[in-house]
Amino acid sequence: MPDPELVKQFGARLLGIYTGGVLTKLIDLGYQVGLFEAAKSGAATSHALAERAGLKERYVREWLAAMVTSGIFLYDAKTREYRLPEEHAVLLTGNAHTNTAPMSRMINHFGSQLQRLVGCFRDGGGIAYAAYRPVFTQCMDDSWRRIYDNLLVSGFIGAVPGLTEALKSGISVLDIGCGTGHAMNILAREFPKSQFAGYDFAEDAIAQAREEAREMGLSNASFKVVDVAALPADPKFDLITAFDAIHDQRAPAEVLRSACRALAPGGTFVMIEFKFSSHVEENVGNPFAPMFYGFSLMHCMPVSLALDGEGLGTVWGEQTARKYLADAGFGQVSVLDSPRPQNCIFVARQ
Ligand SMILES: C[S@@+](CC[C@H](N)C(=O)[O-])C[C@H]1O[C@@H](n2cnc3c(N)ncnc32)[C@H](O)[C@@H]1O
Repeated sequence: MPDPELVKQFGARLLGIYTGGVLTKLIDLGYQVGLFEAAKSGAATSHALAERAGLKERYVREWLAAMVTSGIFLYDAKTREYRLPEEHAVLLTGNAHTNTAPMSRMINHFGSQLQRLVGCFRDGGGIAYAAYRPVFTQCMDDSWRRIYDNLLVSGFIGAVPGLTEALKSGISVLDIGCGTGHAMNILAREFPKSQFAGYDFAEDAIAQAREEAREMGLSNASFKVVDVAALPADPKFDLITAFDAIHDQRAPAEVLRSACRALAPGGTFVMIEFKFSSHVEENVGNPFAPMFYGFSLMHCMPVSLALDGEGLGTVWGEQTARKYLADAGFGQVSVLDSPRPQNCIFVARQ
């Protein structure tokens, strides 16, 4: 017989889970229509807030009711004003990496492929990258742009001993799976003596990367549509990076082997991945784990399986990653903490 107290407790937990699912959609909505930004300038009635954001009051009022009852906004019944506390605004507004709102859009976008995923569970196969684009390209850019702006140079690059000095003196750099190229464009601006290239097989992402490099007036950043599984051994690069771009590959082992071969003598491979164990039991209690296993299932694994790939998954974990790097020919590998607790930085050399 099920213990009624445990049933009740789990029921309460499920209510929280389902509510979180709905609120993720509402955060996405609020982000897209600019309600969080509008609320940042101070407490307002639903009419005033709707006017500030240029929206329809009836919709805004219903959204605010969900925000108030979930504790995201505060409500003063006397003045009928809604207020986004400063501390909440830090995590839902602005251009700093602390703004988590873009994540809600990514989660909802992944959810849009749920019926295809049902089919994959039954029949196998995967979901092609093309099915997620062009929205995926934009969500990915939106989620990582602020992180790169705030943390790439001092946080991620600064964490790798000697890398900042090498970039200052002038080296050649390749980013594989570069997406919209913002990371390379930032580095190209910061380190004008170095040369930067970005490869991705997504044409929309590469077009955006080139456009940004042009707008930024960069002559040391270039981008190409390339399938990095067929990365040539020449030209050689002093630094090859892969930011969140190995675990969803069709053939990650081949990509890593090619990257190792394309390194100049003494060169460095830097791979930013998610900080997990390869063993599920060691991820129990990690607050990021359910979400990243979910991202894996809803995107990273099926895009690889759609190409008959390995389907490593987002949470391939440190032990498996170390094995892949060693098999690819990297003799020295270290794993460093990153400025974000959910990521780690693999630094590998031949
Ligand atoms: C999760 S996204 C990361 C994008 C980018 N590094 C960033 O941080 O925003 C993974 C990227 O790898 C690219 N990719 C996957 N397999 C690839 C392949 N075989 N060749 C080139 N690019 C690939 C995808 O198109 C996608 O842009």
